[in-house]
Amino acid sequence: MFDETPLIDGAGSEPEEEPRDEETLEENSDEAEMMPESDEVAHEDRSRRDFMTQILAGSIGAIVGLVPFVAGLVFFLDPLFREKRAVDEEGTGSQSGVAKDSQGYIKLPVTRSALPIGGSPQLVTIKDDLVDAWNKFPNVPIGTVWLRRLASGEVIAFNTICPHLGCSVEYRGSQQDFYCPCHLSAFKLDGQKNNPIPPRDMDRLEIKADTGDEIWVQFRNFRGGISEKVAT
Ligand code: FES
Repeated sequence: MFDETPLIDGAGSEPEEEPRDEETLEENSDEAEMMPESDEVAHEDRSRRDFMTQILAGSIGAIVGLVPFVAGLVFFLDPLFREKRAVDEEGTGSQSGVAKDSQGYIKLPVTRSALPIGGSPQLVTIKDDLVDAWNKFPNVPIGTVWLRRLASGEVIAFNTICPHLGCSVEYRGSQQDFYCPCHLSAFKLDGQKNNPIPPRDMDRLEIKADTGDEIWVQFRNFRGGISEKVAT
């Protein structure tokens, strides 16, 4: 009654595993060994890139920080360089047009030969370069002087500021003297006071010797209202 056909071989049973040949096993073994090495190379590359990035960032940061520092340093030191430029190697002049030596003598824009011997006083404006910490103002009028050339050839100079209370002393041709209109102080042409109003004579200024036809004067201002000559 029952068909006794034998079962097909293998049907309904576990498949048999294919045997791996030795070559395949060897390749897998090589791959397993290669994996850690490639990770290591990748890690080294990443470290190198990080290092280079840090170097680059540090360099850029240093440059960016250095530029304002150098600019600030130049700005801070500029007055020193400017002062050094103002007096040349011989200490006899500046680059602005005002000639001034290291002792403070300023060259006047008139010559000795231009002054009349024993003649009327000549009014001359003194100019200098005014310098503060960061700025330079060239050729600024800083005062006036009365100049006279004596019969001996000597040139004398007086500050025109009245020693009484600071008004300007004028030359009075009709009286051949100096005169201050504020409180009527009067002075002789040699600067001596000629009435009791001023506390002292006119303030005479130093003239540099041995300058040929040039006239160099050491300009100063002095305190008013006192008998002593005190520079301010
Ligand atoms: S200020 Fe010159 S007389 Fe007084």
